[in-house]
Amino acid sequence: MSQPVLSVENAAVHFRSRGGFLRKAGPALKAVDGVTLSVQAGETLGLVGESGCGKSTLANAILGLVPLVGGTITVAGREVRSDDAESLRAIRGDAQMVFQDPALSLNPRLSVGAAIGEPLQVRGLAKGAALRDRVAALLTAVGLEADHASRFPHAFSGGQRQRIVIARALALQPRLVICDEPVSALDVSVRAQILNLLVDLQRDTGMSYLFVSHDLSVVRHIADRVAVMYLGRIVEIATMAVLFGKPRHPYTQALLLAAPEPDPVRQRAKARRILEGELPSAANLPPGCAFNTRCPIATDICRKDAPLLVARKDGAMVACHHAED
Ligand SMILES: Nc1ncnc2c1ncn2[C@@H]1O[C@H](COP(=O)(O)OP(=O)(O)O)[C@@H](O)[C@H]1O
Ligand SMILES: [Mg+2]
Repeated sequence: MSQPVLSVENAAVHFRSRGGFLRKAGPALKAVDGVTLSVQAGETLGLVGESGCGKSTLANAILGLVPLVGGTITVAGREVRSDDAESLRAIRGDAQMVFQDPALSLNPRLSVGAAIGEPLQVRGLAKGAALRDRVAALLTAVGLEADHASRFPHAFSGGQRQRIVIARALALQPRLVICDEPVSALDVSVRAQILNLLVDLQRDTGMSYLFVSHDLSVVRHIADRVAVMYLGRIVEIATMAVLFGKPRHPYTQALLLAAPEPDPVRQRAKARRILEGELPSAANLPPGCAFNTRCPIATDICRKDAPLLVARKDGAMVACHHAED
């Protein structure tokens, strides 16, 4: 296989509470704890899990925005080093992020054209008429008009603003775009349009996506493979067909059953009960499998030993002592 666009190996990000006057710093909060995954050229890897499981922290670590306490991350073969400005600059050329809320991602005082052209201008890649042409091309690529460049973000709807953010992310022709809940803040009516745009852009450019969402039904529309995260760890990675057809991890099964799909009412209720069980704190993980406190099939070994992410016959990787092959 060719070199992956993104390679995450045993990555860990811990946050330490500051501690106060006469108070010791608290235990480390293990937001990301030993994550290994990769994304190939042209591929979309979905990353799903409940709010607080560490998805955004992992996304930030990939861009070098938070430091690793362990493991390595490489983008297009280059190691991400959060403490090295030159490394970070290089990474920005290959990897960009689209955040959840376009209103917070755009400077209200910057015209749309200035915002989209900024990465090109800062790097001295285009100026004058060439820069204007490039911005116009980016605007049309995301379904806006070239003459929108002179307007300001407030003149646009939420969906249009997210298109502007996407155009800016594409300016440097990155090989990887990390989409962190890119449609969660948008009206339901425009979500499908933005997802379709992302699919079209990928077909035209061959770039890869790491597509982060708490919502499996959104990931379902866009991902080739899906990684399921629980309390800082990956519990299952599989292709779309295998994950939805034969989910192995009890947590994945619960997420699927709880998703708004036409499933038998009783099964859904059961899944909801599992997911309603209290989510342990990432600062105080239970011993063994982190899911054991909510898991319907947990046994003694689950409360003792953390299961490893193991490859199964059909290529799926599952971290569960009791998952079948
Ligand atoms: N800067 C930070 N300082 C301390 N704790 C943080 C920080 N950012 C995130 N966390 C904690 O790390 C965990 C993972 O958060 P996050 O990555 O935002 O999850 P997700 O994106 O899956 O909702 C949560 O417990 C969150 O409170
Ligand atoms: Mg998040």
